[in-house]
Amino acid sequence: MYQDESKHKILFVCLGNICRSPAAEGIMKYLIEKNNLNDKIEIDSAGTSGYHNGELPDSRMRKHGSKRGYKFDSLSRKFTAKDFDDFDMIIAMDDSNYHNILRLAPDLESEKKVFRMVDFSMKYQHDHIPDPYYSGADGFELVLDLLEDACNGLMKEIVSS
Ligand code: 4NP
Repeated sequence: MYQDESKHKILFVCLGNICRSPAAEGIMKYLIEKNNLNDKIEIDSAGTSGYHNGELPDSRMRKHGSKRGYKFDSLSRKFTAKDFDDFDMIIAMDDSNYHNILRLAPDLESEKKVFRMVDFSMKYQHDHIPDPYYSGADGFELVLDLLEDACNGLMKEIVSS
């Protein structure tokens, strides 16, 4: 894969890569476009499980996202150790994702690339982004609230670095 070394490459990771991480990817892409940073930041997402390989995001996540003006249309793929070579930041949605990612890290330098999404929260105090898969509409709305807040925090951090 051709790699542009001047780009900041960010990977969002959850379990299935059909709800939380594709939503984070779509929200962050929207903010990148809005801030004219297309040539500086690259975004992708993946899941630790591979359960939904090749699938579009969950229809409920897409519906709730589109009500806020987002388009979530990435295809699910499994996180692999090669992602440590391809990305500068790997951002986990919850503790389980975080530890499953770290288990694949080949060295200390790779471990330092791993963060939690809530590390970038500004107004919310949640300690993880909750899995909405078995929740109702409220669960999906909460995920979007938390992700919008953390994506804005992440954007601020990147722009000021
Ligand atoms: P995600 O949500 O990790 O935010 O994509 C889930 C999607 C699917 C499953 C669990 C969580 N699943 O068990 O199939």
